This record gives sequence, C-alpha cells and structure tokens, in this order.
Amino acid sequence: MRTQNIHLAYFSATYTTQKIVRAVAQQLGGPIIEHDLTNTQLTEDILLTDKDLLIVGAPVYAGRIPSLTISSFNCFKGNNTPAIIIAVYGNREYDDALLELKDLTENNCFKPIAAAAFIAQHSIFPQVATQRPDENDLNKIEAFGQACAHLINDIQDLTNLPKLQVKGNYPYKEVGKVPLHPSGNDSCSQCLTCVDTCPTHAITKNNPRETDSDKCISCGRCIVVCPTQARNFYGVPYETVSQKFIQANSQRKEPEIFILSATL
Ligand SMILES: Cc1cc2nc3c(=O)[nH]c(=O)nc-3n(C[C@H](O)[C@H](O)[C@H](O)COP(=O)(O)O)c2cc1C
Repeated sequence: MRTQNIHLAYFSATYTTQKIVRAVAQQLGGPIIEHDLTNTQLTEDILLTDKDLLIVGAPVYAGRIPSLTISSFNCFKGNNTPAIIIAVYGNREYDDALLELKDLTENNCFKPIAAAAFIAQHSIFPQVATQRPDENDLNKIEAFGQACAHLINDIQDLTNLPKLQVKGNYPYKEVGKVPLHPSGNDSCSQCLTCVDTCPTHAITKNNPRETDSDKCISCGRCIVVCPTQARNFYGVPYETVSQKFIQANSQRKEPEIFILSATL
C-alpha cells in the first residue's frame, strides 16, 4: 500500500508527545500534515481517505487521554484509513489510555495497525523519567516507525485486517483531576507567554502569577514556556506528594509495542 499523506494529530503540553510522534512519522516517508491540538479545539471534520495514514498521539493523564482532546480527535474521520496510536506516559502507568485512543479511532472508521506506549519525563514530577525519551528510547521509537513502514508496505487489503489488541480495561479508569497547580514567583516578568499558550485559558493577563484552579489541568505548558522560569509547582503539599511519587515510580519502565502481524 502507498501512503498519500501522513496526518499527525496530537496534544502535547510539554512537547514530549510531539517529539515522539514526529520521530515515528519521520520513519514512514511521505508528506506530513501536522495537527497540533494543544492550543486548538477543532470544530470541523477532517476527512481522510484509505490512501492516507493517521498517527495519533496523546499524553496519559491519570490513566486516560486528556478529556479536552476527545472532541478534537473525534473530528478526524477515516474511511478504512490505517492508524498508528501512541500514548506517552511519565513512568507510572498508562492504564486505559492506549485502549481509549484505539477505540476512539476505530469509532471514526480508522483501522489501527499498530500502537505503542512510550515513556517521557513526567510533566508534574520531573525527577521521574528525567530527560526521557533518551537515546535508548529514541532507538526504540525509530524501530517502531520502521516496523510500521514495513507493515504498511505489506498490506494489500485494508478491509480484511484483524483487530489490533492493546493493553487496557473496560470500564476505563474514572477521569481524575490533579489537585496541584503551577503558579508564578517573583521572577515573573509579566511577558504573558503563559497567558497566550495555556490550553485552558487558566491564567489571566491581569495577574499572570496566579492560576484559576477550576480551569487548570496541571499540564505544565506554562512552566516550559516561561522564559524566566518563574512558573512551577510550589508549596508543601506538592513537595510532600512529589517525594512519595518519586519513591513509588523511580524504577525504569520500557516502551510497549502492539503491531499487527506483517504476514497479512
Ligand atoms: C494531569 C497529568 C496527569 C498525568 N497522569 C499520568 C499517569 O497517569 N501516568 C503516568 O505515567 N504519567 C502521567 N502524567 C505524565 C505525562 O503523561 C507525561 O509527562 C507526558 O510525557 C506528558 O506529555 P507532553 O510532554 O506531551 O505534555 C501525567 C501528567 C499530567 C500533567
């Protein structure tokens, strides 16, 4: 099978999901059309043909994909279009996120042919999986992309593919909200980069050091875009949870890959 366009659809607040889905796409050869959904909520459908390929990527938030991505991901409509599913998590667990993303694409007439859960630095507790994806991860990410390229090459008939099986459970884990929110300290220069780039508009220009905890999804975008490193998770409750989290999740996890057999 020849691929016409590779559509890359992802949410990535702290850029690790973006890095990983781009690295996979690069192995596939073909024009890439990127849909960065981090600051965009799609309202109109994007129709793909059976000659296209969708690569869909999301970070894991409390064992699920971020709720605010669902309506945008649902705007992608396939027509027996092959799809590659990628969940990126911070070395705790990915629980039902990969299954949820696979179900979502299947419900929109895509044919998932491969899926993977990769590990990246935890965006709330950066001492967990620090600096990942590292070189070892990137080799595995590239190898996954190459395996997908071979598979797509071998597929003759998309209508008769078996169903891809991935790890995850029904009912999905209940959606959880993290009660920790970043704020700005005295280094804040009021440049308003965080105001402009917060995916949920939880920071206002009148007081950019504060965060609306009802709107904030704790994604960490404001921390990574801040040019003066003023924004972070601060306070005793965060430090206490952080120590426990680091202790419980410091053992290195490795990527998991699910791919249809190449003999189709
Ligand atoms: C609100 C929130 C919840 C998270 N929940 C999990 C989780 O359940 N399991 C896990 O291993 N990592 C979890 N993480 C870590 C992210 O999945 C991880 O840092 C990911 O690389 C972030 O992707 P991004 O850089 O594309 O934003 C969570 C992060 C956030 C912000």
